[in-house]
Amino acid sequence: MEIKKIAVLGAGQMGNGIAHVCAQAGYEVKMRDIEQQFLDKGMATIKKNLERGLKKGKITQNEIDAILGRITPVLELEEAVKDADLVIEAIPEIVKLKLTTWTEVDRLTPAHAILASNTSSISITQMAAVTQRPERFIGMHFFNPVPVMGLVEIIKGQATADETVEMIREVSQKLGKETVLVNEAPGFAVNRLLVPAINEAIFAIQEGVATVEDMDKAIKLGLNWPMGPLTLADFVGLDTLLYISDYFVDEFKDSKYRAPALLRKMVRAGWVGRKAGKGFYDYSGNTPKPLRF
Ligand code: 3HC
Repeated sequence: MEIKKIAVLGAGQMGNGIAHVCAQAGYEVKMRDIEQQFLDKGMATIKKNLERGLKKGKITQNEIDAILGRITPVLELEEAVKDADLVIEAIPEIVKLKLTTWTEVDRLTPAHAILASNTSSISITQMAAVTQRPERFIGMHFFNPVPVMGLVEIIKGQATADETVEMIREVSQKLGKETVLVNEAPGFAVNRLLVPAINEAIFAIQEGVATVEDMDKAIKLGLNWPMGPLTLADFVGLDTLLYISDYFVDEFKDSKYRAPALLRKMVRAGWVGRKAGKGFYDYSGNTPKPLRF
């Protein structure tokens, strides 16, 4: 089977990035979300990100038009998946929502199609089990910003067939990404390391070890990270980090993964990072301003 048509579920931060790279690689893409405003925002983001390369001569207007022409925004789930060879899901990290969506998608999608979730931590095996094709269900975990980051973590659930892994490896390579194969475990490989590391930076802020800007500077220059951990926390979204931390505690039954109280308090205040205009930094001005704790 050759994969030609891809349905991307969700037009948010990850979904529009995935649709972008799939269309850029030549696939026919349907990007689905539940409200027109989310689709419009997703399409506008893809256009803006493609145009970054225009001034630098890395891409032509004709190429941009062709890429955008390969993406069809759709509201109806059936319309999105009915002729798909591959469905990549990037909807909110809510277990119940994922399970009901996958049950529907499985019913509406051709039998040959592969189903892939971009979940950052939820069990692939649990999602596969609500479909009639667990051997063709897999994790395909992208990183933000999707057009820039070079990795796809491929996650094999309990029943995922080796053939499915190989097909997803091939698609990922066509998208210009390197892959690693991870057996299912909470957080897979990257978030298993990243989330406790960011949480430790937040514990340190909470204890007054350093200011937000000094902690970021220390890790950026001392470890050569492209962003300090608190800038990265705002970039990923504090709500996502809290969700993953709580999920880790539930799954591992180990308090070493617990979320710092400060993280929980910030999420409760709605200060969830860049997307909210406020997190460890205030983004209302021209340059991000660190908060004092
Ligand atoms: N789309 C397309 N291109 C983009 C982009 C986007 N959203 N954001 C940046 N770029 C491009 C720029 O145009 C530029 O291209 P060029 O090299 O051709 O000039 C290049 O990327 C570098 O961008 P900038 O010069 O604007 O800025 P930086 O050099 O500071 O890089 C960054 C920005 C790539 C975001 C860098 O800071 C970075 O790598 N940060 C770390 C990101 C990270 O760790 N992501 C993983 C998060 S964890 C995750 O996603 C998993 C989840 O499950 C939690």
